[in-house]
Amino acid sequence: MPNTTPPAFRIAPSLLSADFARLGDELKAVIAAGADWIHFDVMDNHYVPNLTFGPMVCQALKPHAKKADGTAVPIDVHLMVQPVDALAAAFADAGADLISFHPDASGHVHRSVQAIKAKGCKAGLVFNPAASLDVLDWVIDDIDLILIMSVNPGFGGQSFIDSALRKIEQARKRIDASGKDIRLEVDGGIKTDNIRRVADAGADTFVAGSAIFGKPDYAAVIAAMRAELAM
Ligand code: DX5
Ligand code: ZN
Repeated sequence: MPNTTPPAFRIAPSLLSADFARLGDELKAVIAAGADWIHFDVMDNHYVPNLTFGPMVCQALKPHAKKADGTAVPIDVHLMVQPVDALAAAFADAGADLISFHPDASGHVHRSVQAIKAKGCKAGLVFNPAASLDVLDWVIDDIDLILIMSVNPGFGGQSFIDSALRKIEQARKRIDASGKDIRLEVDGGIKTDNIRRVADAGADTFVAGSAIFGKPDYAAVIAAMRAELAM
């Protein structure tokens, strides 16, 4: 399938909406359908009121996170856990490529970022719908990714919260001012019919769970998203 998306854009299907009884097959199917990253939502029934999968599942999936030509597909771990550091290290050992956490879940944000990077992973910070970006004043030079939540974390299939667009614009300004190569990812309620607006606000990486896994033809959804982004 030709890739019509400018290289700046990444689509990161969230396995949260996959069929857990067939997780390996779902991973392979969504990679064959054109996924750029695999988004891995880790919930602990403490920071969020839901419980998903841990590092052992990530480790089991890791050997299958590759394209037909053998190119690795990055595993983008979104930690919705408190505390952060021990699980972040476990996910690094389990093959995560990027690890993001919520700053309000860590007592020592700068230390958590450094701990992730010391493991050789890219580090990201995640901002809930009502969270301020102020912590970026102090750590933007240390991170590789900003993840803006456009739903409250904990569940797939929720509706996009429009105020996220303003926050994406603010995050884009901060990234541009920093002069650093930082990805700006958005998570929650992303569909084919709003992805263009989210890109126009400044996002370059798009998590989509129910929009992709809720349809029978994953490739058709990803292609439709890329077509929106290419317009
Ligand atoms: C929510 C998760 C999201 C979720 C998105 O806590 O962080 O990644 O899977 O699901 P959709 O795309 O269905 O909103
Ligand atoms: Zn997520």
